[in-house]
Amino acid sequence: MENPMYQDLKGQTALVTGAGKKSGIGYAIAEKLAQSGANVVLADFIPSQEEKTPLLIAAGLKEMTALADSLAGQYGVRALFVEVDVTSTASVDQMAADVKAHFEQVQILCNNAGTVLGVPSAVHTYDENAWLKTIDVNLHGVYRVSKAIVPLMMDTGGAVINMASRAAKVPPLFNGAYAVAKAGVVMLTKVMARELAGSGIRVNSVCPGVIDTDFTRWRFGLEAQILNATEEARREEMVQTIPLGRLGASEEVANLVAFLASDQSSYMTGQAINVTGGQLMEL
Ligand code: NAI
Repeated sequence: MENPMYQDLKGQTALVTGAGKKSGIGYAIAEKLAQSGANVVLADFIPSQEEKTPLLIAAGLKEMTALADSLAGQYGVRALFVEVDVTSTASVDQMAADVKAHFEQVQILCNNAGTVLGVPSAVHTYDENAWLKTIDVNLHGVYRVSKAIVPLMMDTGGAVINMASRAAKVPPLFNGAYAVAKAGVVMLTKVMARELAGSGIRVNSVCPGVIDTDFTRWRFGLEAQILNATEEARREEMVQTIPLGRLGASEEVANLVAFLASDQSSYMTGQAINVTGGQLMEL
């Protein structure tokens, strides 16, 4: 069924990074855009055995390709899965070449890929490789993918949406590299918004609070271990800090991304918009 709100997205092409997991925010975004009739490229990382971490448990190539195929079948759009490691320029450039070969142009770029390594750790004890890698995925990945894909957006104009976090604005404990990277994403968004305004490309970022995904379940598990509590107790404690009284759903982040991709947000650029159930309120 099409989403009648965003008819202008019909026939556009969207690339969403970190979209190969059905439970994740990236897939929810790809599905929401496909519902509005956009063609979608789902890009994601397939870690080698050595690269696997508790958070990098994405499905394999077969499952990710099946996700793209199911979106194509369900919504009557073109959908493609492309493997990418956003920390590798060669891999990102290969992804851009594949996207160009299939779709020629792109109108919507959603930089959603993200991860956390080396936590929990205070800055003064943080493992250097984990610190650098966390910033590489979350911040430099956005730069690399934008550098490769924005040229494909120049002829038509469009929208870039970067996934930041509440952690970009409120310092989390013992998760410094991620917070610094996401704060960088907010500023990178503003820089790109100014640079690309004259080319008809709007650039905004999204700052989710606590969204119910693998990422969050992993975090609660970790915190429960440290605090000698149960995962359920950690979740309950978190819920108490959220005025709307529950965690967010991936689809609720996807709703905001679709709005920012569409002409319905035509006078918005350079913003960092909270989707936190009221956990973060700013003037
Ligand atoms: P997730 O862990 O389920 O998904 C992240 C995706 O990024 C995965 O598919 C993973 O394979 C991909 N990825 C990781 N490293 C990559 C690399 N080197 N190259 C390409 N792809 C890579 O997490 P979730 O929750 O869906 O998060 C999506 C985005 O939302 C992330 O940027 C995260 O930081 C952000 N976010 C999530 C929040 C939450 O509560 N779940 C809160 C605030 C922000």
